[in-house]
Amino acid sequence: MKSLFALNPMIWKYRGRLFLGVVFIVLTNVFAVWAPSMIGEGVNALNEANRDFLVPLSEGQALADLPQRTLEVPNNLRTLASWVGLEMDSRLAPKTRADVLDTVVWIGLMQALLFLLAYLIKGVFSFLTRQTVIVMSRLVEYDLKAAIYDHYQKLDATFYKANDTGDLMNRISEDVSNVRMYLGPAIMYSLNLVVLVAMVVGVMYYIDPVLTAFALLPLPFMSAGIYFISASIHRKSDAKQQAQSAVSSFVQQHIAGIRVLKSFHRERAAAERFDVETDLYKMRVLDLVKVEAMFMPLIVLLVGLSTILTVYVGGYRVASGELELGHVFQFVFYVNLLTWPFASIGWVTSLVQKAEASMARILDFWHAEPSVQSPASGGRTDPVSDLPALSFRNVSWTYPETGIQALHDLSFEVKAGETLGITGRTGSGKSTVLQLAMRMMDPQDGEVAVDGTPLPEWDLATMRDGFGYVPQDVFLFSDTIGHNIAFGSQGLDPQGPAVKQAAQDAGVAGDIDGFDKKYRTLLGERGVNLSGGQKQRISIARALIKKPALLLLDDCLSAVDTETEDAILSAIARQEASCTVMVSHRLASLRGADRILVLDEGKLVEEGTHAELLEAGGLYATMHAQQQAEA
Ligand SMILES: Nc1ncnc2c1ncn2[C@@H]1O[C@H](COP(=O)(O)OP(=O)(O)O)[C@@H](O)[C@H]1O
Ligand SMILES: [Mg+2]
Repeated sequence: MKSLFALNPMIWKYRGRLFLGVVFIVLTNVFAVWAPSMIGEGVNALNEANRDFLVPLSEGQALADLPQRTLEVPNNLRTLASWVGLEMDSRLAPKTRADVLDTVVWIGLMQALLFLLAYLIKGVFSFLTRQTVIVMSRLVEYDLKAAIYDHYQKLDATFYKANDTGDLMNRISEDVSNVRMYLGPAIMYSLNLVVLVAMVVGVMYYIDPVLTAFALLPLPFMSAGIYFISASIHRKSDAKQQAQSAVSSFVQQHIAGIRVLKSFHRERAAAERFDVETDLYKMRVLDLVKVEAMFMPLIVLLVGLSTILTVYVGGYRVASGELELGHVFQFVFYVNLLTWPFASIGWVTSLVQKAEASMARILDFWHAEPSVQSPASGGRTDPVSDLPALSFRNVSWTYPETGIQALHDLSFEVKAGETLGITGRTGSGKSTVLQLAMRMMDPQDGEVAVDGTPLPEWDLATMRDGFGYVPQDVFLFSDTIGHNIAFGSQGLDPQGPAVKQAAQDAGVAGDIDGFDKKYRTLLGERGVNLSGGQKQRISIARALIKKPALLLLDDCLSAVDTETEDAILSAIARQEASCTVMVSHRLASLRGADRILVLDEGKLVEEGTHAELLEAGGLYATMHAQQQAEA
């Protein structure tokens, strides 16, 4: 239970609800225990009336000759009557034969009505219990999800490479659901069990200790049986879940890739594999259903056993005069009342085990500290100036997952207002430079500084606000074009002039105007599919609209034709006061750069202007010659 105790502070926040819940549980059980006593008393009264009046009268005796001349009024009935201001004698003395019958029917009817009333009130309190305890569990679930999501957003790139998306999604959905089952049903049924058993067994013991022992005998066996069945159900339903996920992801993949599938004529093979997957799923489901089918019969069997024992032993005790008949009826009700709570012990135990495992998984990354964070003291919070500089001093970076050293001892500086080009072959470390510049990770060696302040001394949010970044692999959200462009600028009208200007600068305004819904056009699965170049340009607009102090472009014009590229480059050049780093493997894109760095296998091999580099006749000149030839 250690992991689950971590939830205590969250539960404590809603202690008021939990306390009310306990009060309602107690009230529910007071009425649950009280109701059967109406039946017990009613049966006792009727039994007595039968013995003392009905049987002798039917045998022809006269009312006046009967030794017993009064009928007992059940205690509960008298108490309740006195509450509504009706004083009743403890014994009634019927005057005529008809009077006897009326009185007997009246007592029976009243007891039945009181029984119903007690059950109704019990129902109301049991509704209120759910409204407090289960609602509390939903509130904690909500808090927990919010906290996990917040934490996810703080964790850095290294964490996301080490954990796969499906797993992270499971923790925030499935694992949290399991934990909620502990917070809601498990806590509720456990409290209910304790209160009910204390009350019912107390009352039963008071009435007849011997019969109590016999009636309760089979119940622990039921708890144990249900525990084993529940555990098995959980195991099998996990297996079923896995098979189901396999089927879904198979279908999802093959529908997403339907064009490839058809063009390679793999329909038959896919259908055969689908058969295998669904067959497995079918087997898992049948496996589960078999165990589930044992659940109710087991309960019914053991409750039946309890009932038989109660009636059998109770009958003996009534015959020997140690017990009144009505109490046997009352016991049968109590045995049924105890059924579900005892069954729930087994069920709740397996719920708690499952929740414990889930909570351990959640805590697993709960304590994972992001390696990239603002300094404890808060760090620099005055924004990046209009004319910042970016510098790398002896920076080395090795990807911890692969051990690939992507940058070796790299030093350079981009001065305020300057445009720096970076080029090199694929895998030479260009993208890594930009990620280090934005502090997606901290270099193992050396120092990166922006606007004169080393990155670890910045408040992260303030620093990143100064950047406009266009990643190499474009990511657009399944949202409207307008929202995608206005993404990084809070409170901006997604159809407003600023968005249109940014689209204009990024050379995509013409394309957007061609869509029916213009800036309201939906992107993604249920929206339009854009071409690679259009996506790149929207992603550029998203960076430009921030009017960033530092603009980082990662090979973001690779799918754009030369003419559009020129227009975009001059729009970027017009952006006042920005310091731009432009990465491209296409040398033509870097014509406007003030200086160009050439990287090779993570090392800076050449540096200079286009003309100087051509002159030098090194890697740059070779790449230039190759690209000229291709063109
Ligand atoms: N996320 C990553 N995990 C592990 N290795 C990576 C990762 N990203 C890049 N690398 C490796 O680091 C080197 C530099 O990559 P990158 O900076 O993307 O180069 P470029 O942008 O010049 O093509 C390459 O060898 C690449 O395989
Ligand atoms: Mg790259």
